[in-house]
Amino acid sequence: MDKLNDPALHKTSSYIQGMWQNSNEKDHKDNGNKDKVAVINPANGQVVSYVSNASSVDAELAIKSAKKAFSSWSKTPAAKRSELMRKWFELMLANKDDLARILTLEQGKPLAEAKGEIAYGASFIEWFAEEAKRVYGDTIPSPGQDKRIIVIKQPIGVVTAITPWNFPNAMIARKAAAALAAGCTFVVRPAIETPLSALAMAELAERAGIPAGVFNVVVGDDAPGIGRTLTEHPDVAKFTFTGSTQVGSLLMRQCATGVKRTSMELGGNAPFIVFDDADLDAAVQGAIASKYRNAGQTCVCTNRIFVHNKIKEQFCDRFVSEVSRLVMGNGLNEAVNIGPLISRKAVDSVHSLVQDAAQQGAKILIGGTPLNDSLFYPPTVVCDVTNDMCLANQEIFGPVSPIIGFDSEEEVIAMANDTEFGLAAYFYSRDIGRIWRVAEGLEYGMVGVNEGLISNAAAPFGGVKQSGNGREGSKYGLDDYMEIKYLCLGGLDK
Ligand code: SIN
Repeated sequence: MDKLNDPALHKTSSYIQGMWQNSNEKDHKDNGNKDKVAVINPANGQVVSYVSNASSVDAELAIKSAKKAFSSWSKTPAAKRSELMRKWFELMLANKDDLARILTLEQGKPLAEAKGEIAYGASFIEWFAEEAKRVYGDTIPSPGQDKRIIVIKQPIGVVTAITPWNFPNAMIARKAAAALAAGCTFVVRPAIETPLSALAMAELAERAGIPAGVFNVVVGDDAPGIGRTLTEHPDVAKFTFTGSTQVGSLLMRQCATGVKRTSMELGGNAPFIVFDDADLDAAVQGAIASKYRNAGQTCVCTNRIFVHNKIKEQFCDRFVSEVSRLVMGNGLNEAVNIGPLISRKAVDSVHSLVQDAAQQGAKILIGGTPLNDSLFYPPTVVCDVTNDMCLANQEIFGPVSPIIGFDSEEEVIAMANDTEFGLAAYFYSRDIGRIWRVAEGLEYGMVGVNEGLISNAAAPFGGVKQSGNGREGSKYGLDDYMEIKYLCLGGLDK
């Protein structure tokens, strides 16, 4: 942190009502909670910083400040909101190096990927700054001569969010940008592992001139308590979450009490299918990009690689050779492209899935042994996996590729869909008829066809089945933060 070009981006307390607020000490004493939380670098276990530990009382304060700010922000002309957001976007890019360094220090991903994430996060702010100016209503032919039907769109109100540690900047940007563009105000609780990126974003929002109370960040380790406030407070109109399906469904149940709108981006179990007519080199490159991004810790990372039995051996040879080139280490080192996992629990969970598959007859082609006591797990490829093994039917969230053979299109579509998840899927083929059949047959919200990286601000990101609801980014993203209001103009025949 001492190497930042702008040390003022290193913030250590919650940002509420345009002020940097230390936690409510009395509340901590009453609840026996600690005042400060350590932020740990997963690459070496060292403390990066200490942040003030906010409670649900602070979350409530933030909601109240967002409620107060809503009355003026929702009426601020879209062009003005857009101008302030564009300034925020520009400041994010101008401070990209510092934001990326903060991100790598607290999350572990390689610096080049961290820079990519800052640009990715900023792109949502730019995208929605533009979309803010294009919120159109409608007029609808009326059934009666004396009436007119008009439809307007209005911001939904105070939006609360809980965001994950795997994209400490972009997941906040993707939600906050849509909310602010729509005219909503926003309170986020970032993952406690990675609060510094969120706080740096708040500093830049303030510098951009975004008014007090419009964007609030509550940093605290009491996930259940703060989560309850963000989902159940009567002043909250909408709640949005990115994280596991298990936690997401609990939060949805809490939102149900107050019939709140939700958008949820939950777990995935992405199939990556390589047909025997595929461009094999392109498929290998696509699988590397889609599997090993962020050390396998994304919801859209490939979770199962299905390869036609005719080309399985060939694919495995080429894939393993590419995997052997990946360099694991501290993300601040430029040569590195695989960082550590986020926690000991994550390493143990990934390793137990690999061991379980090996015990059931799967073959480890490379990797598979954790490194001493560190949080590094080597890029691993496991062959002869079957779709019923835990390695194939649970979300791995680590750098492990299970490979499963198949013989027919119907068989592989059925195996790919045989999961409660439905976020992203990928397949490689050069047969146009097959491309349409498979793209339509996969029960997923997003499908990469001959492409392993599909996320960008212009595209609708989101899943089906237990992978969640709602869409983020794209021209559809703003609707998740708006209400449709129907105006009936009567008495027009007089
Ligand atoms: C996620 O893992 O939740 C998001 C990944 C992405 O935006 O590509």
